[in-house]
Amino acid sequence: DRRLRVALLGAGSVGSQVAALLLTHQDELADRAGVALDLVGIAVRDVDAPRDADLPRELFTTDAEGLIVGADIVIELMGGIEPAREYIALALNSGADVVTGNKALVATHGSELFDVADQVGATVSYEAAVAGAIPIIRPLRDSLAGDRVQRIMGIVNGTTNYILDRMDREGSDFDVVLADAQRLGYAEADPTGDVEGFDAAQKAAILASLAFHTAVPVDAVHREGITAIDKTVMDAARGAGYVIKLLAVCERLEGAAESPTGEAISVRVAPALVPRDHPLASVHGANNAVFVQAEAAGNLMFYGAGAGGVQTASAVLGDVVSAARRHIAGGVGVGESTRANLPVLPIGRVTTRY
Ligand code: HSE
Repeated sequence: DRRLRVALLGAGSVGSQVAALLLTHQDELADRAGVALDLVGIAVRDVDAPRDADLPRELFTTDAEGLIVGADIVIELMGGIEPAREYIALALNSGADVVTGNKALVATHGSELFDVADQVGATVSYEAAVAGAIPIIRPLRDSLAGDRVQRIMGIVNGTTNYILDRMDREGSDFDVVLADAQRLGYAEADPTGDVEGFDAAQKAAILASLAFHTAVPVDAVHREGITAIDKTVMDAARGAGYVIKLLAVCERLEGAAESPTGEAISVRVAPALVPRDHPLASVHGANNAVFVQAEAAGNLMFYGAGAGGVQTASAVLGDVVSAARRHIAGGVGVGESTRANLPVLPIGRVTTRY
């Protein structure tokens, strides 16, 4: 009767829901994974901080490293670069598979962590890092691995979509709706990351890296936020038949001169005028949508909850079940961890394979 030891790092809005679901759905998850998943501990900075879910106090510890060593699966939901990066490296080197929702870390240090995972035969999964509950990482990495993605247009930040939607539909003020977005748990701890487009830029870098099989650095993503959008701009857009959405656009620029193969890519985040009859115009509230145009598949749209604790926890648990299945099946092949095993496209100067 084999059991896997699952360690959780972080108990914020997503982490506390992941812990609650791991405990309440224990039997069902064991059936799905083919092995029991024991939540052995939750590492936090402050054991006594208030949580979104009622969790057994004895699970909490401040000793993250002690918890990581000996775990089979480590779920990192602390956010930020350090110490998350160090803990993930420790987990991989200790033989654990890692599941993370940390888009900042994946966008800035993904390649390095994927390389470590490949070397040790472990995995780093990050379905929760982009667009909350929506399955988009695996569709890009696996389902579309045989196709050629030409363009992605995504509403990938729930907070800004919630703000723009309420401004559009109710004529509400920016500050009032931002406060609501924070209260509902959509916004980042520092909402500057949302409204200035940093959060969307990190997600755009991750999506473009997967879609175009090259490591797109987040600093190369052109970024504009929504702070310049006021009532006057909204009204003008509405009058002309458009709705304003913060879009992440990732596209191949066919025939561009700067690359030896005649290809280049463009990745940008900016407010855009979306015609009211476009599918992206009907994405309301904190929902997200990722519109993918692929050469053979044509147009695909992935839609759903882009933020929120329990919704994002769904994506985390999906990765946990997959990691558990792989773990008991005896690990992974080289390169399987995070990237499609496809030839490198000589786009730009970046050669890291995604
Ligand atoms: N602050 C993010 C958003 C949370 O609003 O979309 C999900 O990444």
